[in-house]
Amino acid sequence: MHAFLTGPLFYISLAVCLGGMIFRFYKYFTGLSWQLDRVAYKEYPMMGLKGAWRSIYKWLIPYGTYGWRQQPVMAAAFFAFHIGAVCIPLFLAGHNVFLKEKLGFSLPMLGACAADIISWLAIAGLCVLVLRRLVLPEVRILTDRKDWGVLLLSFLPFATGLLARYQVGDYGLWLNLHILSGELVLLAIPFTKLSHVFLFFASRAQLGMDFGIKRGGLKGTPMAW
Ligand code: HEM
Ligand code: HEM
Repeated sequence: MHAFLTGPLFYISLAVCLGGMIFRFYKYFTGLSWQLDRVAYKEYPMMGLKGAWRSIYKWLIPYGTYGWRQQPVMAAAFFAFHIGAVCIPLFLAGHNVFLKEKLGFSLPMLGACAADIISWLAIAGLCVLVLRRLVLPEVRILTDRKDWGVLLLSFLPFATGLLARYQVGDYGLWLNLHILSGELVLLAIPFTKLSHVFLFFASRAQLGMDFGIKRGGLKGTPMAW
């Protein structure tokens, strides 16, 4: 089981995730309306790129947008979870040893203490995000089973990773379940709302270009939008 999880299933999951997302990116941009969107973006590339960059980085800064400032608790929970969801898979020492062995390269590594703190903060953040969906009527009404599925999928690698890390009971079992849950996340990315891991950049870029050019950027000019 361990050999299968760390061998073929790992390569398959990675290939499905990356291949699927290349396809989703292609569909995203070719799916934009030619008249409404792409024509203005092509006419004013520099204004568009400036708007795209601005929209992406502002949303990645805690409290960088009005949206984040209007919901301070949500913003704290969001960043507590997402710092872990991005940094732990990429920079955990254990992950990089695995990466080096399987793909021949590794990334900078977090110290053990930092990794523990970031992981626990991620779990705490995720709990608040779950509570938010249960408690706030305006969010609950938009929540369906798929949203719970995405939250559960995101929780499992953290829970099983920590159970393995603290060697609670059978280490081998938790490690196998952990690797399986990590691979389920990779497999689910192209097919679920987890596609936002990549498509966040596409939709923020598109909206940023929209605001940079049409809705604001060319205000007061004779452009007829
Ligand atoms: C193919 C996917 C993955 C593999 C092969 C993998 C492998 C590992 C290994 C070998 C460990 C070390 C366990 C130990 O301490 O002995 C670990 C720990 C951990 N992993 Fe993963 N992992 C994967 C995906 C993920 C993902 C997607 C996440 C989170 C989104 C994640 C979160 C964690 C956490 C939170 C720990 C414990 C961190 C700590 O030391 O405090 N892993 N993983
Ligand atoms: C570059 C990477 C990522 C970016 C930019 C990003 C961005 C976002 C954004 C903007 C939201 C919506 C927040 C809102 O409701 O207003 C969100 C939600 C969410 N993200 Fe990510 N994300 C990233 C990576 C990840 C990863 C790796 C995971 C899972 C391991 C993840 C799991 C989630 C979950 C579960 C939610 C929904 C939270 C809820 O139900 O309220 N994200 N993300």
